[in-house]
Amino acid sequence: MRPDDLRCLVMLHREQDWVRAAAGCGISEHDLAAAVRAVEDAHRCAILRPGTSFRGFTPEGEAVVAWAIEFCGAVDELKRCFQASKKRTLMAPLIDRRSISPKRLCEPGPESHELDLMIEAALRAPDHGALHPWRILEFSKDQREALADCFEQEKRRRDPLAAQADLRRAREHALRPPVLTAFIVSPRARMKVPVREQWLAAGAALGNLLNAAHQLGYGAIVLSGERCFDDVLGSALGLGPDEFLAGFISMGCIAEKPPARKYAAPGSLRSRWAPPAGVGQAPGAAMSDPSRLTTHGSR
Ligand SMILES: Cc1cc2nc3c(=O)[nH]c(=O)nc-3n(C[C@H](O)[C@H](O)[C@H](O)COP(=O)(O)O)c2cc1C
Repeated sequence: MRPDDLRCLVMLHREQDWVRAAAGCGISEHDLAAAVRAVEDAHRCAILRPGTSFRGFTPEGEAVVAWAIEFCGAVDELKRCFQASKKRTLMAPLIDRRSISPKRLCEPGPESHELDLMIEAALRAPDHGALHPWRILEFSKDQREALADCFEQEKRRRDPLAAQADLRRAREHALRPPVLTAFIVSPRARMKVPVREQWLAAGAALGNLLNAAHQLGYGAIVLSGERCFDDVLGSALGLGPDEFLAGFISMGCIAEKPPARKYAAPGSLRSRWAPPAGVGQAPGAAMSDPSRLTTHGSR
């Protein structure tokens, strides 16, 4: 007796008719009869009342059907669980990504060819007009002290009374990450693509870049902070007049995992459109059937 035989039995019980049950199972009546026989043989009892046409189930048959319905339900539930878990596994590279703060990163950071791979992934993000309105600025290891000087000066400009510890922290942001880059948004002027879409494209690219780093086994984080709004630092980094310093991306191996964090439930970010009254109805329908108006938004 196979699980399929039990499904045939359940179908026959539902349809109470050989022809409809066979059609429902997608098999011939002959195969359906064979399936019922297989269950009868397995249970060593008659499941159907005798007769050439369908005459219903015996009391034993009813008991077997009740069990078969439960069994098939459990098998279906198990299949659903397996499929859901398979889909979750497929999504894991995206779902499991976390930002890793610089203090949890260690050497080595991604190599140049790996950075190129990440940028390749970033270039696959949706990008209206293929403008790639962003660029990556790298800071080599031997430039970090100079960058730290820039960070420290920015901190002094912003807070002339900054404590030594704050200045040291500002320098650390430049010195600590194994690999450090800046993500610069460069909206293209006088293009047909609205600037707000270019910002979205840049954000999508940044997301792909971080996901790519995660896929390659690296930890990464984008940090902006006040310094990204400092014009003097911007010009020291070579930003054009229409460019924006979105943030600094730190990358490296993961020395320590970040603490768990909570996420919004997916359902909390979904809602269904409630068409305005009268939209999507034949002219005059709203007037002749007012109940349609009240049910529209509640589907
Ligand atoms: C452009 C940009 C700038 C950010 N700047 C900061 C920042 O200055 N400080 C900060 O704590 N998080 C900042 N974040 C958020 C972190 O990068 C990170 O996404 C956040 O800590 C959530 O962690 P998760 O990515 O693991 O969910 C920034 C994110 C983006 C996209």
